[in-house]
Amino acid sequence: MDLQALLKGLEPAKDPSVLVGPGDDAGVYLHEGKAWVQTVDIITPVLNDPYLWGAVSTANSLSDIYAMGGVPLSALAILGFDHCELGVDKVREVLRGSLDKLKEAGASLLGGHTIEDREPKFGLAVWGVCPEGKFLTQKGAKPGDMVVLTKPVGTGSLIKGVKEGIVKDEDIGDAVENMLALNDRASRLARGLGASSCTDVTGFGLLGHALNICRKSGVGMKIDFGSIPFYERSADLIRSGIYPKGAKENLRFVRENLRTNLEEWKVILLCDPVTSGGLLFTLDPSKRKDLDTEARNLGIRAYVIGEVTEKTHIEVVP
Ligand code: CO
Ligand code: CO
Ligand code: CO
Repeated sequence: MDLQALLKGLEPAKDPSVLVGPGDDAGVYLHEGKAWVQTVDIITPVLNDPYLWGAVSTANSLSDIYAMGGVPLSALAILGFDHCELGVDKVREVLRGSLDKLKEAGASLLGGHTIEDREPKFGLAVWGVCPEGKFLTQKGAKPGDMVVLTKPVGTGSLIKGVKEGIVKDEDIGDAVENMLALNDRASRLARGLGASSCTDVTGFGLLGHALNICRKSGVGMKIDFGSIPFYERSADLIRSGIYPKGAKENLRFVRENLRTNLEEWKVILLCDPVTSGGLLFTLDPSKRKDLDTEARNLGIRAYVIGEVTEKTHIEVVP
C-alpha cells in the first residue's frame, strides 16, 4: 500500500508553497522563487554484488527527481543492516557504489542514518531543483498523445531469479546496465520536448504506473505489446512461474481498468515490479520526429509504445 492511500482522510496542513504534494513521484516546494523537489526511496538487495546494489538503489532513488523534470543536488543515505550478517566491508561496498552514482549525477551526500535491520535495506532521500521552475507531473496527458518509454521492463523476474539462485548477476548484464543508467538524459528529453505528463516505471510495473498517469489525467491508453521493450530472460522466467508476488498484486490493482486478450505471461510481464526503470511520459504526436532526433543526440532509447485515449481504461493489443 502506498503512502497516498494511507494518508486518505488525514489532512496535511494547508501550505501555498506546496506545488506538488503526496501522490506524485516527488514533492515540489516553492521557496524564494525556486521550485525545490524532494523524494525518498529504499529497496532491499537486488543483486549479489553489494557495490552494484548500492549503485542501482541510488539510480532508483534519484529517478523520482528526474521523473519530475528536476536535477538532484544532495542526498541522505538510509541504511538498514544486521552488522553480524552483512558485515562492514560489504556495507562499505554498498556506499561506494552509491557515492560513485551520486558523483555521476552531480549530487552530494550530506549524511544519513543507519538502523539495525535483519533484512538489509538501502536508499536515499534526495533533494533537487526544477530548472526554470518547470516541473513534470503525472497529470496532463491528453487524448492523442504518444506514450513513450525509455527502458525495457522485466527486472522484477530477473531479480527474483537472482534471489532464488537461478540467475547470476553476470547473466543479466544488459538489465544491470539499464538499472544502473540514470534517468537524467531521459528527463532532459521529456522536459525539453514539453512532455504533457511523466512518471518513472518502478514497483507498480509498467501498467500500474501507466494507470497512475491515466487516473491523474482522466484519460485512458491504448498500448501496443509488440512495441514494448523487455528482456527475453524475464519472459522465460515468467513463463516458468518465476516472478515476484508483487506482479500479481499489481495485476489486481490494474485489472478493473485493463482490457486485453494477451496471454497470461505477457500480462504478468507488464505488471512485473521494476527496479530503476525508465521514464514513461506522454507527448504531443507532432513531436514524433523531434523525439527520435533528440533521443539519438542524447544517446538514449525512446520507444513509442502506444497512445493516450479518451477512455478511462488501458487497452493492450498484441
Ligand atoms: Co516514481
Ligand atoms: Co519511487
Ligand atoms: Co541519525
